[in-house]
Amino acid sequence: MLILGIESSCDETAVSLVKDGREILSSVVSTQIEEHKKYGGVVPEIASRRHCENILGVFEKAIEDSGKAFSEIDAVAVTYSPGLIGALLVGVSFAKGLAMASGKPLVPVHHISGHIASNYLTHKNLEPPYLCLVASGGHSHIIEVKSYTEFNVIGRTRDDAAGECFDKCARAMGFPYPGGIHIDNASKNGDFSVYKLPYPKVAGSEYDFSFSGLKTSVINLIHNSEQKKIQINKNNLSASVQHTISEILVGKVMKASEDFGYKKIALAGGVSANSGVRSLFESECSRRGYEFYMPALNLCGDNGAMIASQGYYNYISGITAGESLNAYATMPIDDITF
Ligand code: KG4
Ligand code: ZN
Repeated sequence: MLILGIESSCDETAVSLVKDGREILSSVVSTQIEEHKKYGGVVPEIASRRHCENILGVFEKAIEDSGKAFSEIDAVAVTYSPGLIGALLVGVSFAKGLAMASGKPLVPVHHISGHIASNYLTHKNLEPPYLCLVASGGHSHIIEVKSYTEFNVIGRTRDDAAGECFDKCARAMGFPYPGGIHIDNASKNGDFSVYKLPYPKVAGSEYDFSFSGLKTSVINLIHNSEQKKIQINKNNLSASVQHTISEILVGKVMKASEDFGYKKIALAGGVSANSGVRSLFESECSRRGYEFYMPALNLCGDNGAMIASQGYYNYISGITAGESLNAYATMPIDDITF
């Protein structure tokens, strides 16, 4: 079965063709990062306009690269929530147009479930149930993946997402947006033991995250050093930020795995591209004898293939939408409505 996946929830316009939820036939991603960089973050109005301009070309290239004709596609899947509302509406409107004009089914996909599905494209044998950490620019969730279409959120962030924390710490250090990758690169030449950063305590749930205190202590450390005219070592501070975030993520996920009885762990979302996060999860899972899965590096960030993959599982479970499908800026993954 061939599913077309369309993603436009943030600053990537992406379209992909995926066979049977597992095999990528084409995947085209047009990123707007260079344009948003000068503002230090994504400007929603600019993002919507660029999606409008790019989506047709990205769609045509995805069809061409796949070697298939549009007529061979079984269904059109699209991210309809969560994300920037104007940006989401471009993908949803385009997908509705395609589906209505061709008579093909329209399949709504929750963006976070798409990130989880990036693992199905990387690991052909991975099947639910398992525990997944989704850490991106907008989300930090520990999720029980009960089946391909049933999710239960065990832990979430109370304030900033892990990716947001990477980006804000990077910005304070003078790195360009998005800063996560720059912290990752600088960490390779840094020593994490030089700067000690706090581990947040989150009252209420032992599986919830809080990253805003970590961000504040990095900003304070930089300001104090500037006042004392002491040069910050960016490599060492980057290594500390990366090490601290990795330990927080691993600690909470391992606690949840013990309490909920999971020995199969997956990562997803932009932050799962981080080398420190990947290696700490890998070593901790191997020490415990857990099965561990993470997406290929090119599937960690937003892409259309993950939407097509999840779209396949939604479609075979009977999840489709009519022409009244709307986009929603927010929607919990464990309370999905269409
Ligand atoms: O999943 P994603 O592409 O978009 C959202 O749905 O938010 O995630 C983007 C986030 C950004 O915060 C970015 O800095 C972070 O993922 N990121 C990284 C790395 N690559 C991307 N953070 C740390 N290390 C990386 N290598
Ligand atoms: Zn995303």
